[in-house]
Amino acid sequence: MNLVLVGFMGTGKTEVSKEFAERTGMRYLSIDKMIEEREGMSISDIFKEKGEEYFREVEKSIIKEVSSMEGVVIDAGGGVVLDDENMENLNNSGVVICLKARPEVILDRVDNKTDRPLLNVKDKLAKINEILDSRRIYYDKIEKSIDTSDLTIDEVVEQVKSLVKYSLN
Ligand code: S3P
Repeated sequence: MNLVLVGFMGTGKTEVSKEFAERTGMRYLSIDKMIEEREGMSISDIFKEKGEEYFREVEKSIIKEVSSMEGVVIDAGGGVVLDDENMENLNNSGVVICLKARPEVILDRVDNKTDRPLLNVKDKLAKINEILDSRRIYYDKIEKSIDTSDLTIDEVVEQVKSLVKYSLN
């Protein structure tokens, strides 16, 4: 049984899955890091040099691989929800939880970072709202979700634990 965290950029997936993995002794896996290792370049360079479509293909094949593993915490990129096959694989591999946050909170968390090519624009808040709007139907399809806007990492981890326990009962 795996734990899979999905959700928009800046909702806390990485921090929460690392903390959850540490506390449970499960292995932490970042899909983005695996993509970077496989391609030998950063996510930004993959987008720039090979394009988003190529990035999504690599992302999809790595999702398929990690979905067959056991006892791992999967930190998935914000766009994995766009592909039905990704979600089928992830749902079959464990408990999928969607982390959410208000657009202003997301902006605050991603503001000084340059490693997210989709948000590499002048008006970040407008872009966040635009992408969130276009993806809302995908994020809302996921049954279990946590709004992390006003929570600490510890509080989110506790909520994740309850959701996992609940779905294993
Ligand atoms: C993306 C989110 C990023 C990364 C890539 C594309 C997206 O991951 O996979 O920049 O489409 O939302 P994080 O959600 O971990 O930032």
